Amino acid sequence: MSKNKKNDFYNILLGQLLSQDEGIDAEILTNSALNAIKIASLNRNFPIISNILLKASSDFQRSNSSLNQIIFGSNFKNPVGLAAGFDKNGVGAGLWNYFGFGFAELGTITWHAQKGNPKPRLFRIAKEKAALNRMGFNNEGAEKFLSTIEKQKIPMPGNRPCVLGVNLGKSKITPLDEAHKDYFLSLRLLAPLSDYAVINVSSPNTPGLRSLQGTKQIIKLIRTLKDLSNCPPLLVKIAPDLSNEEIDEIARVANENGIDGIIAINTSLNRFNLKNLIIKTGNTLEQENGGLSGLPLEKRGLEVIKRLRNSTNNALPLIGVGGISSAKTAWERIAAGASLVQVYTSWIFEGPYLVPEILDGLTLQMEKHGFQNIKEVIGSEEPWK
Ligand SMILES: Cc1cc2nc3c(=O)[nH]c(=O)nc-3n(C[C@H](O)[C@H](O)[C@H](O)COP(=O)(O)O)c2cc1C
Repeated sequence: MSKNKKNDFYNILLGQLLSQDEGIDAEILTNSALNAIKIASLNRNFPIISNILLKASSDFQRSNSSLNQIIFGSNFKNPVGLAAGFDKNGVGAGLWNYFGFGFAELGTITWHAQKGNPKPRLFRIAKEKAALNRMGFNNEGAEKFLSTIEKQKIPMPGNRPCVLGVNLGKSKITPLDEAHKDYFLSLRLLAPLSDYAVINVSSPNTPGLRSLQGTKQIIKLIRTLKDLSNCPPLLVKIAPDLSNEEIDEIARVANENGIDGIIAINTSLNRFNLKNLIIKTGNTLEQENGGLSGLPLEKRGLEVIKRLRNSTNNALPLIGVGGISSAKTAWERIAAGASLVQVYTSWIFEGPYLVPEILDGLTLQMEKHGFQNIKEVIGSEEPWK
């Protein structure tokens, strides 16, 4: 089947639904997909399912060693990952490699199970290839997450086809001044199964969470978590809405306190030039609470990576996320300094063929530039040809 035919297949199934803001609720669609993924992951050795997965992997996976890198001590088969927030409960942990991802970030997971904010809380903004969400860390909690992962019988860290990170957040009921204890409890439980862990202090939908990006607060958090004897490589995920000076400061503090990498960016409270756009609720984007994701984030996502690269003096691996929707935008993020990239909103709009399309595009660009390995692209500032 040609690539366009394959894309047509996704479009026929979902494209109509995804091309309009009205229609089936975005969260219901996400949960339906996750239910199918959960069943497939639990039963991936059953003949019918393993045949489907074999077919999926032949379509989506690329085994090109020039895309391979060791980062945080883990073997990333390629630099494209699934961003946090899609698989909040880890139900697809055994399956993400079949979709071609080099890594997947599970969560956000909190210590206490929580329902999140009232629904509706996830909105498509189809024309802009964007989304607005105010989910509020709905998740089943760290203990249930552990059993969900165990049930899938996934190989242990170091031995996996797809690197798995866990993204940790603060439970809503935990007071802000006890946040470090809440993150610590989750990390202590989940460290043995995590290739890396992320301190998420940048989601806009948990009251006060972003204040944990402040110097004193983040130092306390990092030091508490680093005290864990088996602490996995620890990353921090930051917001796009920090000022450039605040970005420099968090990079400095992260560096000085032993953080292993920085993920930039989370969803934005900024509405860019879309303030007056009316969404499904009948209100304008400016009137609605929540974080914006997708194409409108592309420019800021790139700026933040460039800024981080300078302020960390290249010392820390960076993961670029926000508005990456093509091989070109992935290349630009890597050439600006990201070692790895993640996708979320564009993966929903474009469908699963986006991952191989990015991987093929990166490979072709490397050939055009005469690079042997993706590592050479990082921070090269080489333009897309
Ligand atoms: C519905 C939704 C839920 C999200 N949930 C989380 C989350 O739980 N934790 C997190 O760190 N980021 C979360 N994110 C942010 C994404 O991981 C990513 O940083 C952001 O969407 C920008 O990437 P994108 O433009 O490719 O979507 C969420 C994004 C969306 C759209």
